[in-house]
Amino acid sequence: MNMKGIKIFSPATVANLSCGFDVIGLALEIPVDEIFLYKSNNPGIRINKIIHGTSFSLPNDPKKNVVFVALQSLLKKYQQQQKFDREKKIGFEIELIKNIHPGSGIGSSAASAAGIVFGANILLGKPFSTMQLIRFAMEGERLASGTAHADNVAPAIMGGVTLVRSYKPLDITRLHTPNELWISIIHPQIEIKTSDAREILKQKILMTDAIRQWGNIGALVAGLYQENYELISRSLEDVIVEPIRAMLIPAFYELKIRCKEIGALGGGISGSGPSVFMLSKGNHTAKAVTQVMNHVYSPLKVDYKTYTSPINKQGVKWDEIF
Ligand code: HSE
Repeated sequence: MNMKGIKIFSPATVANLSCGFDVIGLALEIPVDEIFLYKSNNPGIRINKIIHGTSFSLPNDPKKNVVFVALQSLLKKYQQQQKFDREKKIGFEIELIKNIHPGSGIGSSAASAAGIVFGANILLGKPFSTMQLIRFAMEGERLASGTAHADNVAPAIMGGVTLVRSYKPLDITRLHTPNELWISIIHPQIEIKTSDAREILKQKILMTDAIRQWGNIGALVAGLYQENYELISRSLEDVIVEPIRAMLIPAFYELKIRCKEIGALGGGISGSGPSVFMLSKGNHTAKAVTQVMNHVYSPLKVDYKTYTSPINKQGVKWDEIF
């Protein structure tokens, strides 16, 4: 194979999906981060170029970039495994096009981390399993938010809707994605740090809330498999995290009410916010829901972006560069 490098398209993701805090997530078709990754025999990891919008900045020190940290953890493991070939010189050159706004709540750091380890695995001849790739990418999440959660990196790498059954040991499974499931997103351009949005959460919850929440999670999973949109709709309820985080997002409850009135199945905070997501059955309803999001936000003095996307069943995509 004469491949020089690869171009990776790594998707935005929605973590939690209302009732599944830290365990459920899904991948979107848009927006995606684009990464050009080249293997070289010059040891080390070099981020040669980062292209991004003007409305945000990224750390100047490349070692504080999630792509660096995630790739470094993969490379370290790779070199440990090359017992008989320790002298082999391997390095990577990276160009990153950030289309997913950091701090948006749609898995910006996860897209970069997932994309880079996925790409490196291909260039190295696929020595690692999907679960190992998720672990490497989780190191990027640890850097970005202080916790190595997997509910964004797992759907970015595996595609579709994923469920983290357990973190110790890491046990992640892909769920069924109903064909007509679409998603509308509004990203209010205010900053909410994941670490702050986690700090305000209670460490103990009521048994009555736990019972309601695990009923919803179980029913959401059943609804996805049965392609039962009414059951999905009834299950999109979070009695534990949303009531606390909702106050961070302007017009959150108005958004939910108005989107459901127009036909959304339901929704909530995307990851730790500030983005809000709504699920719909079909493209037509999803577009109408996105329109309503625009109507709710246009009178507010808050900049925002909206997206309408089907569920991305593949996850990270890539093209060869010869
Ligand atoms: N599950 C995480 C949280 C996702 O809600 O804090 C962060 O993107």
